[in-house]
Amino acid sequence: PQTATKDDGGVLRVGGKPVTELAAEHGTPAYLLDEEDFRARCRTFRTAFAGADVYYAGKAFLSKAIVRMVHEEGLHLDVCSGGELATALAAGMDPAKIGFHGNNKSVGELGRALDAGVGRIIVDSFDEIERLSALAVERGVRPQVMIRVTVGVEAHTHEFIATAHEDQKFGFSLSGGEAFRAAGTILGAGVLELRGLHSHIGSQIFDASGFEVSARRILSLHKRIVDELGVTLPELDLGGGFGIAYTSQDDPQPAGDLADRMNKIVDDECAALGLDRPHLSVEPGRAIVGPAVFTLYEVGTVKPMEGLRTYVSVDGGMSDNIRTALYDASYSATLASRTSHAGPMLARVVGKHCESGDVVVKDEFLPADIRPGDLLAVPGTGAYCRSMASNYNHVPRPPVVAVRDGQSRVIVRRETEDDLLALDVG
Ligand code: LLP
Repeated sequence: PQTATKDDGGVLRVGGKPVTELAAEHGTPAYLLDEEDFRARCRTFRTAFAGADVYYAGKAFLSKAIVRMVHEEGLHLDVCSGGELATALAAGMDPAKIGFHGNNKSVGELGRALDAGVGRIIVDSFDEIERLSALAVERGVRPQVMIRVTVGVEAHTHEFIATAHEDQKFGFSLSGGEAFRAAGTILGAGVLELRGLHSHIGSQIFDASGFEVSARRILSLHKRIVDELGVTLPELDLGGGFGIAYTSQDDPQPAGDLADRMNKIVDDECAALGLDRPHLSVEPGRAIVGPAVFTLYEVGTVKPMEGLRTYVSVDGGMSDNIRTALYDASYSATLASRTSHAGPMLARVVGKHCESGDVVVKDEFLPADIRPGDLLAVPGTGAYCRSMASNYNHVPRPPVVAVRDGQSRVIVRRETEDDLLALDVG
């Protein structure tokens, strides 16, 4: 996670502003986005993958302000639903720089993508090829498509977020020959422009060798398509999934190292296979936004369990961060509002929801004098926390506050009880 900088009084600063002031202005819980850090990560990926296109994966966290930042920093955007597409377009994203993903895009979503002039659609099934072809004929357009290929790589990550092994719902299988057949079907349709192949092997990956194996396998299919179907494939997308540090145990590879390894394997394989090198793209989400956000909570109750640990309850929980409960994810927490000279105490940071699995941070040593009213910050919560937030127990979702040069601005406002009630009919 981003290093927490604290002032002499032990108060954490995010984007140059003390969190005590941010809490007073915006309330808690709140997601605090360090805007400069977010932008710097966009630039890091752009520089590391110079010559390639970097699609920010909006599923990690998307809002209109984020779309504008991504656009300003020269990134492309990956969306995977009509809602994400609508957000991107509402923020003025250049449609040509949008890639549209999903294993079950509806006719309505595909139609909107075509009407908007989305740059590329990553097709995921034969049904979709048929659906998209019909829509293209209706509109007299020729959409650019990529084929999502399941390359059979076992990414070493949680099973729910590994995506390129054979027995799961995404893509066309490489080994079963479906991906090759999909290329034939697309070319045969006559209305779709096949740009290239796409692979995404999973998420929160630390071992770059998975990307190398996937690149090698996908380029062998690329070669077969070029040779046997007589087309050129100008693009290749190796997906996202670059891991980040959630705790001090995690040791991710710098973006530059990953880029070097991925570029080298593509160069070497293309040379070995006698292929023109395709234009590369990648789709990082977590690695760009994850470390740029702290969730700020206020402590409400402190409950020591003799001989076990102390339960520290905060004013949010699994509705603003489901990842601990869902993926057994590890986070850290830090006292953010004052200095403490008390010794360490084994704590579990829990939320306010009505189940015991409502854990935010499983194990953390917090100062033994932690008390109601203290602020706790949980770093590394930019990715898949707000975007997977829920209204469980009718708890309104927290705001996202961007902080830069000591100035804060709300980019997603706090949900209110009126917002919740607004959906109830009768
Ligand atoms: N491209 C495709 C096609 C994807 O499916 C994904 C993530 C990404 C890019 C971005 O992956 P990233 O760089 O963010 O790892 N909710 C889970 C993660 C699900 C990822 C889904 N696809 C979590 O909280 O860990």
